[in-house]
Amino acid sequence: MDPLRLKAEFPILQQQVNGHPLVYLDNAASSQKPRAVIEAVRRYYERDNANVHRGVHTLGSRATEAYEGAREKVARFVNASAPREIVFTRGTTSAINLVAHGYARKFLREGDEIVITPMEHHSNLIPWQQAAKATGAVLKYIPLQPDGTLRLEDVEQTVTDRTKLVAITYASNVLGTINPVGRIAEIAHRKGAVILVDGAQSTPHMKVDVQALDVDFYAFSGHKMCAPTGIGVLYGKASLLEAMDPVEFGGEMIDFVELYDSTWKEIPWKFEGGTPIIAGAVGLAAAIDFLEQIGMDNIAAHERKLAAYALERLSAIDGVVVYGPADERVGLVTFNLGDIHPHDVATVLDTEGIAIRAGHHCCQPLMRWLNVSATARASFYLYNTESDIDRLAEALVKTKEFFGYAIG
Ligand SMILES: Cc1ncc(COP(=O)(O)O)c(C=O)c1O
Repeated sequence: MDPLRLKAEFPILQQQVNGHPLVYLDNAASSQKPRAVIEAVRRYYERDNANVHRGVHTLGSRATEAYEGAREKVARFVNASAPREIVFTRGTTSAINLVAHGYARKFLREGDEIVITPMEHHSNLIPWQQAAKATGAVLKYIPLQPDGTLRLEDVEQTVTDRTKLVAITYASNVLGTINPVGRIAEIAHRKGAVILVDGAQSTPHMKVDVQALDVDFYAFSGHKMCAPTGIGVLYGKASLLEAMDPVEFGGEMIDFVELYDSTWKEIPWKFEGGTPIIAGAVGLAAAIDFLEQIGMDNIAAHERKLAAYALERLSAIDGVVVYGPADERVGLVTFNLGDIHPHDVATVLDTEGIAIRAGHHCCQPLMRWLNVSATARASFYLYNTESDIDRLAEALVKTKEFFGYAIG
């Protein structure tokens, strides 16, 4: 795997920002798009665009084939047992909300428990707060270890036979922690609960096999894995999706409509009311082809190396505090530099052409747990190199000099 050759495939990465070659290290927020994906979307709009599932004309058939073909590709990519277990959504957030509305509100009762962790993104936290309020269920948290990992003993203790749903991230967008979701799924099932996994930060970076993990629901976003914004996926075991109610009602999702009542299509279409995100699905299919050509294991190995190198370079800078575990982590490094506000760090880095994220990363409870109001985060992808990390480290040293008074 040659990251420099891969970088050449991304037109946006060829520019200068503030007089410097762009170093894009905000991949956990959103990845850039390779030419193959941009071209696939352009080709779709130039050649095949029409609405799906309704036209009897040629373009309608082509668009339907492209859309349903993308579903088949996604099913293979995460090893679902059938394409009908793949629901297209707007992203991870709407996939999780679909389960919170269509499943949790239907099946949870007062006194039932929903178990999550303090490292969840707001997208995998607020929907469960709301579902708990709506049903009378109790929201419980598996405690974190000081290094930002989970202990299976704590999972065993927190998940009880009253727990009906466990919702957990595969990889933390702040700590980088990779959670043992397969083992947690085993515990959840043994106690009679279903498990939803937030795959927003894992699917772009490692091989995912939903059947091997034996998870019930798995959510992810296209835009973090080289696909366009506005397309995401909810994987659900067929029997669970079948038991769920639709959440959006209207065109495309119905079977028969009478004046006072209606019936729904089968899964997954009963969840896809209205004209779906056709070009987004086409882009996602092209992104999957692109990633598979590189190989998910190669991407994971490359990012592991980058994360280790970044941890080493950043930790060597006096005043840098790095958060999260030392290993079993994805390719991102969250840190603070003395008491310089992370927004100031990110602003100085931007003047050097380096894009990082600063803020609470949609994880306010985790920020409180870390005892900080915000952090900086550099997150890597297949096109990043060790020299990008060198540029980051050098710019951090400059930032420190610039704000020198702030560091003891
Ligand atoms: C762990 C995690 N979950 C969920 C999300 C939400 O993804 P989206 O905004 O694409 O719905 C993100 C995005 O940053 C994330 O990092």
